[in-house]
Amino acid sequence: MSVPRDVVDATRDAETVVVLTGAGMSAESGVATFRDADNGLWSRFSPEELATPQAWDADPALVWGWYLWRFGSVRNVQPNAGHIAVAEWEMIDGIDLSVVTQNVDDLHERAGSVIVHHLHGALSEFRCDTCESPYRREVEWVDEPTERVNPIKCPQCVDGRVRPGVVWFGEVLPPGPWTAASSAVEECDLAVVVGTSGMVTPAAYLPDIAKSCGAAVIELNPEDSELSDRVDYSWRVSAAKGLPQIVAALK
Ligand code: OAD
Repeated sequence: MSVPRDVVDATRDAETVVVLTGAGMSAESGVATFRDADNGLWSRFSPEELATPQAWDADPALVWGWYLWRFGSVRNVQPNAGHIAVAEWEMIDGIDLSVVTQNVDDLHERAGSVIVHHLHGALSEFRCDTCESPYRREVEWVDEPTERVNPIKCPQCVDGRVRPGVVWFGEVLPPGPWTAASSAVEECDLAVVVGTSGMVTPAAYLPDIAKSCGAAVIELNPEDSELSDRVDYSWRVSAAKGLPQIVAALK
């Protein structure tokens, strides 16, 4: 499979690039997506019971155990050829590239990407649910998603419990990464959208912002997404197959 002409044209002269990634970016590393019909996390688990502040209040041991399982699952996988290609693209002379990701894994960083904005937080960054202090001590993961584990007491305050450092449904995005992501898409010449269904806002607005500011927007996704009709070109390809071909063509 060769790189489509529209993708070659959009990538060849782009100097300021933003790669916007979702769960499909890490799928070939073995990390489950959310909305895949067979294996997606939200087809097997209930987001209402696991990924909301109300769920944390109602059953913290269930929520904490599930996130400790996800934390462990991500620690045990490796970046795929797509993550590595994005990091190599950033290294090309004259290229100013940043990654904006909805993913809570650290596979972009482990592949070598330097500028990575995490819109939905990170599985490895724990903090107190009351005083917000970061919790940097070792945390042990569990092997089963349904294992109940009582949350750790915050060492900094009296009432707090250590919670996952991810964004739950109903919570606002961390302002730093959102501001950085918005500026990056406003200033780029090319936005490359990889492996997101485009169903979650405000992340799904970023390709539109890039386009309205004059950037070319291309999508890499093996399936149609909510964004496919709004981008300049959709390449039906997986992240680990398409991104290395783009970078090889640029070198
Ligand atoms: P989804 O699970 O909604 O979508 C994953 C997308 O990846 C789909 O469009 C797939 O077609 C595509 N895909 C699957 N395999 C791929 C591959 N190998 N290469 C490229 N694309 C592939 O995941 P997100 O869009 O990331 O939020 O979901 C957005 C947010 O919804 C997540 O960050 C999470 C979730 O609820 C929070 O937890 C706050």
